[in-house]
Amino acid sequence: MNFYETFWNHKYISGETGWDIGYVSTPLKEYIDQLSDKSLKILIPGGGNSYEAEYLFNNGFENVFVIDISTIPLKNLSERVPFFPEKNLIHSDFFELDDSFDLIFEQTFFCALDPGFRKHYVSKMHQLLKPKGKLAGLLFNIPLNNDKPPFGGNKEEYISLFEENFKIEKMETAYNSISQREGNELFFKLSKK
Ligand SMILES: C[S@@+](CC[C@H](N)C(=O)[O-])C[C@H]1O[C@@H](n2cnc3c(N)ncnc32)[C@H](O)[C@@H]1O
Repeated sequence: MNFYETFWNHKYISGETGWDIGYVSTPLKEYIDQLSDKSLKILIPGGGNSYEAEYLFNNGFENVFVIDISTIPLKNLSERVPFFPEKNLIHSDFFELDDSFDLIFEQTFFCALDPGFRKHYVSKMHQLLKPKGKLAGLLFNIPLNNDKPPFGGNKEEYISLFEENFKIEKMETAYNSISQREGNELFFKLSKK
């Protein structure tokens, strides 16, 4: 077990899971609700308890994958959604995943990574997406911590990070955030260049 797996396992075991809202977030729910192609191959990296995966699966999306470095939330998801395919619950480091997807969702995974990994995050996302694939979700638009997750950032920084590899279709303050995150997060949609 490496440092990161131990770190995140500890968070789940000790219940220090302030990021976990307990339900599918409204911005992602509304984004999912307007998707018509249920055959899309979707990845939720650092998905944690992944209420988004549960929502997708319960709404007919069967090609949904969750990857997490900790087995604890993957087991929780499996217990909540017993018919969720086991093979789609990947216990691994995101940076070691070798596959390809139409759509990848971001929610509090980017902010969980040390900022030193941000360029690697961008290139890995680019690698994991099929041609014309999309990365969509939420990024905090506030400073947050310097020494431990969650790490923050801002729109300008994110644009300069992503623009070489992705077309930025949208990156705006979310209008439909959950109340605790209102005004503090950007909804973004990027397509692979
Ligand atoms: C802040 S939590 C967010 C969980 C979930 N996205 C949510 O919104 O509830 C970060 C998650 O990323 C996972 N994680 C951290 N580093 C990872 C990595 N390198 N590969 C895969 N998962 C990772 C952690 O185990 C944790 O479940």
